[in-house]
Amino acid sequence: MKVFAHRGASGDFPENTKSAILEALKVGVDGIEVDIQSSLDNYMVIHDSWLDRTTSGKGKVSDFTAYELSKVDAGNGEKIPTIQQLFDWNNNKSLLNIELKHTFELERFAAQLERNIEAKKISKANILVSSFDHHQLLWLKNRLPWLNIGALTSSIPINYAKFAKDLDAFSVHVDKNFVNKAFVDDAKKRGLKIYAYTVDKEQDITLMLKYGIDGIFTNYPVQTKAYLLSLQKVQLTSA
Ligand code: G3P
Ligand code: CA
Repeated sequence: MKVFAHRGASGDFPENTKSAILEALKVGVDGIEVDIQSSLDNYMVIHDSWLDRTTSGKGKVSDFTAYELSKVDAGNGEKIPTIQQLFDWNNNKSLLNIELKHTFELERFAAQLERNIEAKKISKANILVSSFDHHQLLWLKNRLPWLNIGALTSSIPINYAKFAKDLDAFSVHVDKNFVNKAFVDDAKKRGLKIYAYTVDKEQDITLMLKYGIDGIFTNYPVQTKAYLLSLQKVQLTSA
């Protein structure tokens, strides 16, 4: 089961910051998940559309330029990263799951994604763009047919993972509280990967393993990896 650091190693470092991202890479996660908001002139790594919860700033991210946003503290004196910095730090070291939040001007986003990938020699297979906004995903998949997209949901739809297959998605990303074995089996039958968020507790990790989930997003990648390793050891000794 793959381990994605949710907003970086956000249980131990300020979410969606350089330290959270670098720590996740240091402990060898399979992937890093981050959130993207539009600023006036760029794409920023921050979960909320408002600055207030996670930074020293006030107001909407989309009302400021990246330069203005570089003045606010995103925790422990860190800055809100730009999408370019994200690519610099990750640089093919893990999968990169970019979740689009309030992200506008998708043509600009697509062009910038292509530019970064080319300039920094990022493997296309390492990029996974996800969103709860399936219209955005559909648009992006048409614009960039090579792009792996992940369809987010926090429900168990009547036709399970059909909506993700209809989008030609690579993966379906589900809420750990709204997933069951039938949903997982259906996703796999349709050739999709299925990843669950946000899974921190050992009991939940065990349940996701039982369902056959392909990967989990966790705020605590170190502890999660250690727990998964301990389960493997138990399996080996009891074999
Ligand atoms: O991408 C999975 C998960 O991060 C979605 O919820 O609110 O943590 O972005 P949220
Ligand atoms: Ca997210």
